[in-house]
Amino acid sequence: MLPFSQYDAHGHLRHLITLEGMTSEQVRELLDRAQRYLRRPGEIPAHGRSLAGITVGNIFTEPSTRTRSSFELAAKRLGADVLNLEIQLSSRVKGETVLDTVYTLQAMAVDVFVIRDAEPGVCQYVAEHVAPHVSVLSAGEAHLSHPTQGLLDALTILQYKGGFRDLVVAVVGDVRHSRVARSAYQVFTALEVGELRIVAPDALMPDEGEMPEAKRFKTLESGIEHADVVMMLRIQKERMAQAAIPDAHDYFARWGLTKQKLKLARPEAIVMHPGPMNREIEIASEVADGPHSVIRQQVTNGVAVRMAVLETVIENRNRRWSPPR
Ligand code: CP
Repeated sequence: MLPFSQYDAHGHLRHLITLEGMTSEQVRELLDRAQRYLRRPGEIPAHGRSLAGITVGNIFTEPSTRTRSSFELAAKRLGADVLNLEIQLSSRVKGETVLDTVYTLQAMAVDVFVIRDAEPGVCQYVAEHVAPHVSVLSAGEAHLSHPTQGLLDALTILQYKGGFRDLVVAVVGDVRHSRVARSAYQVFTALEVGELRIVAPDALMPDEGEMPEAKRFKTLESGIEHADVVMMLRIQKERMAQAAIPDAHDYFARWGLTKQKLKLARPEAIVMHPGPMNREIEIASEVADGPHSVIRQQVTNGVAVRMAVLETVIENRNRRWSPPR
């Protein structure tokens, strides 16, 4: 059996499981396409018919507001039908396996599965078993990967900073448990960000050897000094075996981003956060809602990026596969 690839035999994207190994050209193609779907605030969102007749199935076994809603809106705005499997009301709770669930929905003509799962490897496992015309898109896999988040983060930086090579980007907080940080690392290294920093207390730093191209900083103050982009991360209590951090007040005192601490970054620095935020734990409301924050633009960009990814995999499918007559 051939090793798994998210690309088809022609080298075109069929699944999106990870950003690891993506070239800058591949990333930029997706970002260029996403930019076509951005509109100014208040304008009617972009619509199209490129997914007419296609069915997108969302299977989320972990909670989500942004990713699930934006995949749904992205698919609908391009003319697709969308099925949101309510996992707690599904036959998964009676013991049906993920693969049997997928085969069942595939038999109802679901063409693209959007999967979020706490278990590493589920997205790839499903991708290895679906029919040749079907695609799998990761909506977040354990602590490992959140590729569309990485793309929307890159798009946001491009929008505000116009490029990547001259930037100092600081990724701050619970890097160890963060799939957002891993996808950010992959996309920022592909795009050759000038200086990439990971900034975390020892307990929340990834293992030595992981993220080798990033510089490590062990205080918030040193890590964000002269940064152009400060990306704050959520404390992921659900992925910690036991409390690896001191209490919330102490964490906020040392690691919470306040207006005062943000003065250490460049005056025109942008502040990002993937959401959901723990306000007054990793980020103060005065920053989250303040003039440097681009957090809501990240959400807007998420819809455009997911439109671009859905359209790309369907376009690639149409190039390699015609339905039987
Ligand atoms: N950023 C992100 O993945 O948010 P959700 O968990 O709400 O989808």
